[in-house]
Amino acid sequence: MSSAIYEVRGRSAVITMNNPPVNGLGFDLRREIVEGLARAAGDSNVTAVVLTGTQRAFSGGADIREFGTPKSTAEPSLNTVIRVLESAEKPVVAAIAGACMGGGLELAMACHYRVAVSGAQIALPEVKLGLMPGAGGTQRLPRLIGAEAALNMIVSGETALSEKLASSALFDEMIDGDLLQGALAFAGRVSEKRPLKRARDIKPVLPNAEGFFQFARNTIGAAARNFPAPLKCVDAVAAAVALPFEEGLRVERELFVQLMQSPESRALRHAFFAERAAAKIPDVPEDTPLRKIGKVAVVGAGTMGSGITANFLSAGIPVTLLEAKKEALEKGQAVIRGIYEASAKKGRLSAQQVGERIALLKATQSYDDLKDADMVIEAVFEEISVKEAVFRKLDETMKTGAILASNTSTLDLNKIAAFTRRPQDVVGTHFFSPANVMKLLEVVRGEKTAKDVLATVMALAKRIKKTAVVSGVCDGFIGNRMVEQYLRQALFLLEEGATPQQVDRAVEKWGMAMGPFRMSDLAGNDIGWAIRKRRYREQPGLKYSRIADRLCEQGRFGQKTGLGWYRYEAGRRDAIPDPVVDKMVVDYAREIGAQRRRIDQEEIVQRLIFALVNEGAAILEEGIASRASDIDMVYLTGYGFPRYRGGPMLYADEVGLYNVVASMRRFAANPHGDPGFWKPAPLLARLVGEGKRFT
Ligand SMILES: NC(=O)c1ccc[n+]([C@@H]2O[C@H](COP(=O)([O-])OP(=O)(O)OC[C@H]3O[C@@H](n4cnc5c(N)ncnc54)[C@H](O)[C@@H]3O)[C@@H](O)[C@H]2O)c1
Repeated sequence: MSSAIYEVRGRSAVITMNNPPVNGLGFDLRREIVEGLARAAGDSNVTAVVLTGTQRAFSGGADIREFGTPKSTAEPSLNTVIRVLESAEKPVVAAIAGACMGGGLELAMACHYRVAVSGAQIALPEVKLGLMPGAGGTQRLPRLIGAEAALNMIVSGETALSEKLASSALFDEMIDGDLLQGALAFAGRVSEKRPLKRARDIKPVLPNAEGFFQFARNTIGAAARNFPAPLKCVDAVAAAVALPFEEGLRVERELFVQLMQSPESRALRHAFFAERAAAKIPDVPEDTPLRKIGKVAVVGAGTMGSGITANFLSAGIPVTLLEAKKEALEKGQAVIRGIYEASAKKGRLSAQQVGERIALLKATQSYDDLKDADMVIEAVFEEISVKEAVFRKLDETMKTGAILASNTSTLDLNKIAAFTRRPQDVVGTHFFSPANVMKLLEVVRGEKTAKDVLATVMALAKRIKKTAVVSGVCDGFIGNRMVEQYLRQALFLLEEGATPQQVDRAVEKWGMAMGPFRMSDLAGNDIGWAIRKRRYREQPGLKYSRIADRLCEQGRFGQKTGLGWYRYEAGRRDAIPDPVVDKMVVDYAREIGAQRRRIDQEEIVQRLIFALVNEGAAILEEGIASRASDIDMVYLTGYGFPRYRGGPMLYADEVGLYNVVASMRRFAANPHGDPGFWKPAPLLARLVGEGKRFT
């Protein structure tokens, strides 16, 4: 199938881009645009050219399916197409509807004229991938809409609607009604006009440019720490104002190449593709028919149940919330109301929207009310006997074909499924706390979970705006299984010489949203304690620092008790270092005969992050995660891993797996700690041997 359709209408040639879904500027399309232009040039009947797309998109920019393949840079490159367009001897009119973004907008800006309908989405979103426009966008946009407006669009990557830019030179005419008819009429009117209009010939004017760009650099530099792209965008726009067009283009090219090679952009691009990949399950066909989810039920109105419920109400999906205890039910309802009232106070919701959401909620204590729900999510106490009672009841109650989900974080989903006569309908939906805020949803695939159940839950996750990642069944699933090793390592660091705040500060400086000790205080140290007690029973040989148990024995459960690894003042969340804890750590180390030493930041960071990586490798090898990038998605969306580092697995690749293992060997030689801890997972060792990467 052809990627562009060429036809002659009256005295105009029309080139219609036709590369679904968004007219990505793939190799075939680029080639066919150039061919169309040549045909128009050679046809003496043709006096003008209209370049257009579909209702949905003029063009969304580069064809992401070609990313990283030779086709993406094969000639004619976008820059070549743009050169051909701009030097055409007959006027080229871009007729724009829908998405006109990135390379698509750069293409449009190289046309001699642009007409658009209202509602077209105009953007240069490259900065979101740690890049900047690389086909003249930073040079032409300032000439067409002014340097200040262009800088805002390029640095933010945000979308502007065409009507908002209607008065700028970006558009020569706004079209009411049929775009193509309007564009053809316009082309007829300008076909004889010479010289042809070119954005490059406009001289950008900006009084006090130097002061303006200095101010922009200061504010953007401060706001975009760790992200190099926004500042380079400023440099490129400044070049558009200060330099002749061709020189500005050269500056843009240079900066673009620098960004393309930056680790931050690699990380952001990895995250972008990881998110898309995570939505696909290797053995579940994309056209798997979905079960209809119109109504949802939630069982348990505690911390998680209420947050989970809010997700569905916000998406317009009615929820019946069931609780065992009346007071708990009322409390849950109040929490849900509170979530919406807080949003209303911040101006994010109107009173009417709050009302509409609350109206979708039905509270009950009777299983009879769950009968017509298409899916139920259980969020009761984390005890297998309680789960058993609930799932037996759900099995009796729910209609045939309903999806039975559990929010369990540590229990065996296969066991839970076996409490029912329909294990194929049982799946894990592991939300993260606070469930109405955190993006991550681990979708836990039981041995018998049906493919259409998985596909349905993945689609539902999108409706409630979650990033879903599939995990197999194991203790802790992907995220918590890895974090356990990270926390174990954090405790060893205390024994060996660090303080909680040194550890937290080191990884926070490195980019984690929250260090392990602040995180534990937030989640509740009692939760980790319960997990450790189970470990001591089930894996008595496993070396675990007992220092955290000491803390818990003193009732220091974290923020909720005002004391944990830190002190908390009433009503505040600031973690205040506590000398009592430091002393406890030192005393404990002395007791166990550990030689304390100064541990530098790099060692702290490497030990924590490589602990994640090694467990991640095991998870990958066992097939608990189907791709390394899925693990990265879990960490980026559920654990505050810095996006500009792309996730633990990409980070390990960037460091080089050989170097990761070399560091692990060094840590293993440490006389303290657990020598078994640093044994490279077989997959990691194999990849090093083969000189390969995770991602
Ligand atoms: N808290 C977290 O951070 C977190 C995160 C992910 C998953 N989880 C999991 O979510 C589940 C719920 O955790 P939570 O923190 O919301 O607990 P919670 O104690 O806040 O809430 C549990 C609620 O379930 C109700 N309940 C107990 N037995 C019931 C029954 N038989 N029928 C109906 N209601 C019943 C209780 O009255 C209580 O209100 C657990 O499986 C937990 O492991 C918790």
